[in-house]
Amino acid sequence: MGITTTLISGNDDETAVFAEAFDGDLSLIFRFDVDISQPLSTSSRIVTCFHEIEVDDEKRTLPDRESMRQAVYDLISHVWPICASDPSIRLPDVVLHIQQDDRGETTFTISHEGVFQRYLAGLLPVSSVKDALIRKVGVTEPRYASLESLKFSHKLGGRGGTTITRFRDQKDGGPYIYKGLSFRLFLEGDAIYRPERDTFHRELKAIYSLPSHPNLQRTPSFLVTTGPPQSASQGVGEENRVLCGMLYPFLERQSLQEVINQSNESHTSLPLVAKAKWAFQISSAMATVHSSGQYHMDLKPSNILLNNENDVVVIDWEQCGASPFFLAPEASGLWDVEVVANSETDEAQEAKPTMAYREFIGPLLDSRGTWPRRNVFQLWQRECPRALEAAEIYSVGKSLWVIFEQKNDDWVYERKHPEATTVEWTPGSDGVSGAWKDFVSRCMSVDPNKRPTFEQGERFWEQEWKQLEENTKEM
Ligand SMILES: Nc1ncnc2c1ncn2[C@@H]1O[C@H](COP(=O)(O)OP(=O)(O)O)[C@@H](O)[C@H]1O
Ligand SMILES: [Mg+2]
Repeated sequence: MGITTTLISGNDDETAVFAEAFDGDLSLIFRFDVDISQPLSTSSRIVTCFHEIEVDDEKRTLPDRESMRQAVYDLISHVWPICASDPSIRLPDVVLHIQQDDRGETTFTISHEGVFQRYLAGLLPVSSVKDALIRKVGVTEPRYASLESLKFSHKLGGRGGTTITRFRDQKDGGPYIYKGLSFRLFLEGDAIYRPERDTFHRELKAIYSLPSHPNLQRTPSFLVTTGPPQSASQGVGEENRVLCGMLYPFLERQSLQEVINQSNESHTSLPLVAKAKWAFQISSAMATVHSSGQYHMDLKPSNILLNNENDVVVIDWEQCGASPFFLAPEASGLWDVEVVANSETDEAQEAKPTMAYREFIGPLLDSRGTWPRRNVFQLWQRECPRALEAAEIYSVGKSLWVIFEQKNDDWVYERKHPEATTVEWTPGSDGVSGAWKDFVSRCMSVDPNKRPTFEQGERFWEQEWKQLEENTKEM
């Protein structure tokens, strides 16, 4: 099969570049350092190019990202056959440093990083997993797998935390999805690693406290543990092991976004009856989530998987950021909410409380362009569950618009401020009824008070789906 370089990243200090690569059952971390005494060496040029450091001589960098990726790949391929046979490189604290000597020859050193102990110390010990994660009764005891027993292949998530993997010694064993924290991420530096670690722990906690519902992600099949190099021969759940990841069954069709992209590539339309079913399942799952006082925060088609039965599974419970394309405009962090009495009455002639939004005056996070700029989801969970639900309804409305229109995900690169855009219905959604479009548009009302609830969504879509299914059978 050959060597595959899966991820290239850099450190906070802009002095190093890391690369992860695998071939067969061997996965390795490589490191390239800038060497001021040898600015023209390939390693130095890789670092200079990756971090976009300004240079007065073009020879000190590489022409573009593509050449940099090629240079990384070439150096790794050069050293791989020599280092692959050394048994010590399989230890979890190993990083392979690649550099050039005075004569320009590529050399490597197998480094057992001293900071590995610090990486382990920041992770959750297996002994405290139950107390830290499993507060709910009736949750099954987690099963453990060791990081060393996994054979990694393709990366799926943006920052390299989500990877397809198999158990090394199970030849025919089905693939899993590994989601976790790597030592490589730790080496990038605190500013990058700490928020990722907090996110990992938050996601684990959220998963273990979710209500059960057929369209919500279940608890992981395995929790993955690592430990000091000498602990490899011990049991996976032993005292001195720590938690570094989780394994889920790999769902071959992946996310609704991938299914849409593939359908567009083949110039086909996904069946309307399936779209109605997905709308019902998403609304039903989210109605359950909100009635148990929880939230998702980043609902979008790439966080909704499809299983073999063509049913949806809502994943990615990190609860720390949202795509500005799907985020409700009033949940950007720039607004506060309060519930005020209203003279209007509802159908039962009772005064209908209304949410009033006012601009937030206070410090906002400068979180490298990520949204929301202040986590109002956490705040509204405690202070205004109606506003929390309305914000999530917006994201579901936007997701359904993407699903009905079959839009490719070319917005992911737009980091701009979330805006309430009036959505346009194009020939892409031909066949979608006016009633469906109207419901989806109401989910995206600029005024959150005008949006339906998840329960109403569940009822509406169930009816639409069942009716369509009946009609399809009759034909
Ligand atoms: N169990 C799974 N089966 C198949 N694909 C998955 C699975 N879990 C995640 N993915 C794919 O990986 C992508 C990233 O996973 P996700 O949990 O959303 O991580 P991230 O935090 O990087 O967005 C998803 O959009 C989906 O395409
Ligand atoms: Mg995701």
